[in-house]
Amino acid sequence: MSETLYDRLGGEDAIAAVVDRFYGRLLEDDRVAHFFEDLDMQDQRAHQTQFLSSVADGPVEYSGADMESAHEHLEITPSDFDVIATHLEETLVEFDVDEADRAAVMEAVAGYEDDIVTAAD
Ligand code: HEM
Repeated sequence: MSETLYDRLGGEDAIAAVVDRFYGRLLEDDRVAHFFEDLDMQDQRAHQTQFLSSVADGPVEYSGADMESAHEHLEITPSDFDVIATHLEETLVEFDVDEADRAAVMEAVAGYEDDIVTAAD
């Protein structure tokens, strides 16, 4: 079997560590922290870890809401999306994920932008 992006990222434990750091960064960023204030961050981290694992072709089933339902009430703008996508990319850099794998993750995530962004800047 060929190696998947999920394997190259280091599997579920490595992805969970990326997700922890990623949400740590979001909660420290006043531009977006308010979106996450009332959330159960344990659940959020678990779902995000599953989601990223499954989009990276890992053997993990994502059990959360689809991207449109999870975000439609939030009125997320293109700028909000860019702030969050940039934190994700910078987190992958911190974890020494190489450029090709970072690009693959960011491309997968960008594929959901139209479902997530529902407001104008
Ligand atoms: C960058 C691409 C993004 C991905 C891959 C992503 C992924 C996810 C996932 C997997 C969930 C969990 C859904 C569930 O638990 O059922 C979620 C929920 C959420 N996301 Fe995102 N998201 C992205 C962008 C954003 C942006 C740009 C914002 C805000 C600016 C945002 C704010 C939230 C919030 C507040 C929730 C919780 C919704 C709730 O439980 O009511 N997300 N997201």
